[in-house]
Amino acid sequence: MGVTADVGLERIYRGKVRDIYTTDSDLFLMVATDRISAFDSVLSPDITGKGELLTQISRFWFEKTTHIVENHMISADIDEIRKRLPEATLDDSFAGRSMLVKKARRIDAECVIRGYIAGSGWKEYRKTGAVCGHTLPTDLKLAQKLPTPIFTPATKADQGHDENISRKALAELVGANTASELERLSLELYTFASAHMADRGLILADTKFEFGIVEGKITLIDEALTPDSSRFWEAAKYKEGQSPASFDKQFVRDYLEMSGWDKNPPAPTLPKDVVSGTIARYREALKRLTP
Ligand SMILES: Nc1ncnc2c1ncn2[C@@H]1O[C@H](COP(=O)(O)OP(=O)(O)OP(=O)(O)O)[C@@H](O)[C@H]1O
Ligand SMILES: [Mg+2]
Repeated sequence: MGVTADVGLERIYRGKVRDIYTTDSDLFLMVATDRISAFDSVLSPDITGKGELLTQISRFWFEKTTHIVENHMISADIDEIRKRLPEATLDDSFAGRSMLVKKARRIDAECVIRGYIAGSGWKEYRKTGAVCGHTLPTDLKLAQKLPTPIFTPATKADQGHDENISRKALAELVGANTASELERLSLELYTFASAHMADRGLILADTKFEFGIVEGKITLIDEALTPDSSRFWEAAKYKEGQSPASFDKQFVRDYLEMSGWDKNPPAPTLPKDVVSGTIARYREALKRLTP
């Protein structure tokens, strides 16, 4: 892939949501687009404004969690980014949604923490009574709080769905020391963030982190504690046994489930009210989290 003409940088990766451009230095430019994905499909239309909200939410958490672990963020300020990347020509459409980050050697694992039982964790629990090797109390209800938050890692599949794995399998994949460090850091980040969110009337039901190695050190990469990577619930409306009111993609997932779609691409086009309802939820999430 060559240098993208209007950006002046080479786009090396187009993810479901973000575009990554490489630079002449040891930095990547990560640009959150307005794309939205669910059940591993990119949906249409775009959710205008979503990319900026996501970047601002990650930025907030990256700034707030450096006492726990170093992260990859250099800057999310467009003027600063332009200054740092003289080879790039970033028009105003990049403002707000772009983040300059340190290139990392990615650790190929999704580090998921669950404080409540929902989503794929709930499915696994119903089948086996356990999640990723954690035996859980019997008779848990959907969305119930777990006795203590649990680390439930998953593989990062290049193709298809990520798969939940046991902590033992993670240790085999990345080494025992790294695996236990990933677990410790993820739990600490979850505990810190869920306390902050509780002050704001939000429940952090679960969340996923990614880590990489930068200059030999485990570093938090990717996005952090956003509605794309987490379940954010409204504490005031929370009830065990019910799918809770949320500020994340659940709204879109609920629509897709209800539409009868078989989960094979292409997904049905999102109706206007689902688009506007989604952006309203992301906007509310940023508003509630930040000062
Ligand atoms: N600092 C970093 N260094 C290297 N890779 C990174 C860094 N930060 C994020 N990444 C990777 O960049 C990609 C971000 O794109 P995005 O999340 O949109 O992709 P995706 O379609 O979700 O694919 P994936 O399943 O790989 O996350 C991810 O693959 C993520 O692991
Ligand atoms: Mg991703």
